[in-house]
Amino acid sequence: MSLWTVLLAAGSGTRLAEAAGGVKKQFLSCAGRPLYWQSLAVFARSPAVAGVVVVFPPDDLETAGRELAGLLDAAHPGIPVLTTAGGARRQDSVRNGLAALPREAGTVLVHDAARPFVDAALVSRVADALAAGHKAVIPVLPVTDTIKQVAAGLVTATLPRDTLAAVQTPQGFDTALLRAAFAHAGEDFTVTDDASLVEHLGQPVCTVAGTPENMKITNPQDLSRLESAAHRPLPVTGYGYDVHRYADPARPGKQPARPMKLGGFPILGAPEVLAHSDGDVLLHALTDALLGCVAGGDIGRLFPDSNPDFDNMASGVFVSEALLLTKARGLTITHVDLTIIAQIPKISPHAEAIRMSVAALLALDKSQVNLKATTEEGLGFTGEKKGIKAVALVTGWRLEQ
Ligand code: CTP
Ligand code: MG
Repeated sequence: MSLWTVLLAAGSGTRLAEAAGGVKKQFLSCAGRPLYWQSLAVFARSPAVAGVVVVFPPDDLETAGRELAGLLDAAHPGIPVLTTAGGARRQDSVRNGLAALPREAGTVLVHDAARPFVDAALVSRVADALAAGHKAVIPVLPVTDTIKQVAAGLVTATLPRDTLAAVQTPQGFDTALLRAAFAHAGEDFTVTDDASLVEHLGQPVCTVAGTPENMKITNPQDLSRLESAAHRPLPVTGYGYDVHRYADPARPGKQPARPMKLGGFPILGAPEVLAHSDGDVLLHALTDALLGCVAGGDIGRLFPDSNPDFDNMASGVFVSEALLLTKARGLTITHVDLTIIAQIPKISPHAEAIRMSVAALLALDKSQVNLKATTEEGLGFTGEKKGIKAVALVTGWRLEQ
């Protein structure tokens, strides 16, 4: 038996319709994809979840299903994603979602697509409680406002706040129990959450901690939350590593020998370096680190050394090209940390010039660029003075795409 998710995206979003230009909120564009994709991705990444049923409004089933198929083609989460049509009330959509579950779905999470900020830890808390044997689990938050009952503008009662909780989704259930609760409640019993059906059946509902971020997009003022989510920068790191062999008159290499440059700065009197390009080992590692930040592959893919155009190419060009790609993919660089590993030449006399040269290439302040150098204590090919290596680490922020 496995755990599936019913993702509810079949509402009409009436409270938000005007502010959303008539688009149902679950289909609003968030970071370039329909809003429901945000939570779909969180559930699909959860190791506990074996599959998802997305419930769409009946009139949108075909178009939304087609769009979803396109999104899955581009980035399939690796678990089955089915679709079905919802009903008039939220609970009708849940019932249709339950009907579309495969037989193996012994437990189910029901989640509002209008809660796009659900996170993996919350999904795990609910899933873990189900795995521990609880048959109905809901995430709750303590209530901070005092809650009163009001009728016709007059207070009729003040509820004891410490007994109250605000309820979120995903709510988790033993599938058979939720089906039985639906059958028991019948058509006329209308609820605002699924656990109410189980309570009506007289069965226990256990609670886990919800998260304040997991709010439901309901009213026009909530749209600003989506705006900031769409522009939320993600911290990223890119790593680059490169090696070049020194020219050795006794063992001529296949590649030409070039005067050594590090970070674009010529190192006079240093051994010559074998390379198709100008052989700047530090800028090659840096180019790879830049590409690493934006899933841009590697330097060899961008600038194949089989291409005669790159013969004796200044490696600063590689850096500039990689930089353009990172900009196009929304990267802001915050820091660069570079290490040169060589027995010879001695780097320290040139370190400041190399650092300034790299900072200028990247249009960074020199406080954002660090350069270290080390030997390998006479060990290995750098120790034997046969070559040089460099490592680059680029850190930054990237806008979610
Ligand atoms: N939902 C659904 N089927 C319905 C009604 C609601 O699947 N018949 C879903 C919504 O798409 C949403 C979640 O249930 O993800 C929570 O409902 P709500 O916030 O009330 O959304 P809407 O009903 O779409 O909005 P409104 O009440 O403003 O019309
Ligand atoms: Mg509603």
